[in-house]
Amino acid sequence: MSIRDQEMRDTWEASFEEQIASGAYNTAPVEALVRSVSYYLRDRYVANELPDLQFAELGCGAGPNLVWLAEKGITVSGVDISPTALGLARESLERSGLVERVGALLEGSVTDVALPDASLDGALESCVFQHLNREDREASFREVDRLVRPGGVFVGHMLEQGHTVFQQHAGEQLSDDPGTLQLDEGGSRYYLTNIGLSHFFTREEIQSLFSGWSLVEPCLSQYELPPSEARKRGYDSYLQSMLVVYAIK
Ligand SMILES: C[S@@+](CC[C@H](N)C(=O)[O-])C[C@H]1O[C@@H](n2cnc3c(N)ncnc32)[C@H](O)[C@@H]1O
Repeated sequence: MSIRDQEMRDTWEASFEEQIASGAYNTAPVEALVRSVSYYLRDRYVANELPDLQFAELGCGAGPNLVWLAEKGITVSGVDISPTALGLARESLERSGLVERVGALLEGSVTDVALPDASLDGALESCVFQHLNREDREASFREVDRLVRPGGVFVGHMLEQGHTVFQQHAGEQLSDDPGTLQLDEGGSRYYLTNIGLSHFFTREEIQSLFSGWSLVEPCLSQYELPPSEARKRGYDSYLQSMLVVYAIK
């Protein structure tokens, strides 16, 4: 494991330790993924008659999206740098009686995924690639391109530059990686301002990363957090600004 991967593992292990202690880790399927994957399946298959599809989530965390996919009868694999997160994902799949739907749960980086070329009908990521430096982000998008078979889908859910945190810190963008902030304001390690590096994507950037794909739709999704949640993050108001990327290879 490279030093950079070890650092990422340490960061996310510490984050999950705090998230477990405060019950803050995500246990609900991410709406943007559910919606986009549902569109993809509806477009191609008759409801309740899915063939044996193979999906993977890159940076699967505690596994709520894997559970949702597996409940539909899809074979799921999860990749995560944090062994604690993978353990939570495994437990959650077991608790839901979905173990036979698991392809592989892989501890490692999304920059180098131990799955064969063109082995996936779908690759998903939610709030993972945004925490990688430029070199690793590019490697991860290359992995998506390698793993997804022609006709397969990529769904991503990632920070966009209208986000409150980006708007407030725009003057601190890294000079060699525009759109990226390196924030460490102390406090809970599961907030953007404390997790270290965060990249805020643009639509144009996504279009160019997927230039060889047949369809790319980066859709802007914005919503205000309730005031109580905004205050927990140290803001009076807090706009989540995300790109939902739906791309067909
Ligand atoms: C914000 S959480 C999102 C988890 C999950 N996708 C969800 O929507 O609930 C980010 C996840 O990415 C994982 N992660 C961060 N960097 C990674 C990397 N380089 N390779 C694999 N996983 C990584 C973390 O361990 C964590 O589980």
